[in-house]
Amino acid sequence: MDKLAVQLGARSYPISIGENLLSSAKLFESAIVNKKVMIITNNVVAPLYLQQCEKTLQNFQVEHIILPDGEKYKTFKTFEAILNTLLKKKYARDTTIVALGGGVIGDIAGFVAACYQRGVAFIQVPTTVLAQVDSSVGGKTAVNHPLGKNMIGAFYQPQTVIIDINCLKTLPKREFVAGMAEVIKYGVIYDRNFFDWLNDNVDDIKALEADKITYMIKRCCAIKAEIVAQDEKEHGIRALLNLGHTFGHAIEAEQGYGNWLHGEAVAVGIVIAAKIALTKGLIEREEVEQIMLLIDQFNLPSAPPELMKYSHFAKHMQLDKKVLDGKIRLILPTSIGTGDIFSDTSEAAMQSVIGL
Ligand SMILES: NC(=O)c1ccc[n+]([C@@H]2O[C@H](COP(=O)([O-])OP(=O)(O)OC[C@H]3O[C@@H](n4cnc5c(N)ncnc54)[C@H](O)[C@@H]3O)[C@@H](O)[C@H]2O)c1
Ligand SMILES: [Zn+2]
Repeated sequence: MDKLAVQLGARSYPISIGENLLSSAKLFESAIVNKKVMIITNNVVAPLYLQQCEKTLQNFQVEHIILPDGEKYKTFKTFEAILNTLLKKKYARDTTIVALGGGVIGDIAGFVAACYQRGVAFIQVPTTVLAQVDSSVGGKTAVNHPLGKNMIGAFYQPQTVIIDINCLKTLPKREFVAGMAEVIKYGVIYDRNFFDWLNDNVDDIKALEADKITYMIKRCCAIKAEIVAQDEKEHGIRALLNLGHTFGHAIEAEQGYGNWLHGEAVAVGIVIAAKIALTKGLIEREEVEQIMLLIDQFNLPSAPPELMKYSHFAKHMQLDKKVLDGKIRLILPTSIGTGDIFSDTSEAAMQSVIGL
């Protein structure tokens, strides 16, 4: 098992990564406040891992809430339904909430934990690549609003993050691949050595080789922890982690959420950002090619849907949170392993990369 910490003063917490951690009572116990534990999961993850999780927590009073699967249930309505259940069952301030699932479950359970009785203890047990390398770390919690994704939420850090890499064995291949876009993102924007390591280990990663997967997730969590420790509420450097997301969100929205997975759209967004960086003379052509090659090696797309032109992107980018004072703020790589926020990209530059 590997361990690291998110350093946030009194709100610091450990992240544990390894095989079979769902069965480690010790990891859970150190973060549970009192007797009562509520596991929040969904109807895909529950048949796979709920029993194992409840067995591990058998010394506590454990109950569960099983939500229907999918982003479309990451709503205020679901949030309210969970609160209703907790209240009816007389859960008190000393409750511990366990989020067992992917990013959807983590985000909604985290927001419940942030709000229920002004905040109760919260354990993240992420079961997708995306959740293990990204969403379970850093304390962003949210539900969607009809007018925008993740528009209602809170910064609320968990007590601990328990990452059992065995969970990835049941993850559909397409979800695994999509999660790899976020992994590649860390290499491109923050860590050239990690980017090279990914290049050297493509086959082992695809084969879910345990040591390699553990290292990969640990490195991603370490980068995220380092960034979050410096800028918890995203006033500065944390925004780097949005590399590829402005364009990615536009693809997701234009294609209808769920048709393109988040990671697939982000992969294309990373390529667009790299190409814009090239037109601005920020990055070498060879590096852009290396980024595209790695994305391709993990079977991720690198071009937007055929019919999606600049005007389609522009329509959605105006709504995106990354627009500040009317200027589009783009995260662009300045080499493999470094990047910055730019507010001076002309429409012409974006049009030339995306196409009219
Ligand atoms: N809070 C943050 O910082 C942050 C960061 C990035 C993304 N997000 C959010 O995360 C969400 C996306 O997360 P996701 O990609 O994990 O999607 P998800 O939670 O929908 O999971 C993807 C699919 O895999 C299934 N699944 C989960 N674990 C499984 C397993 N071990 N075996 C088999 N199937 C499994 C799920 O039921 C679902 O069908 C979005 O709502 C996004 O907004 C949050
Ligand atoms: Zn993302």
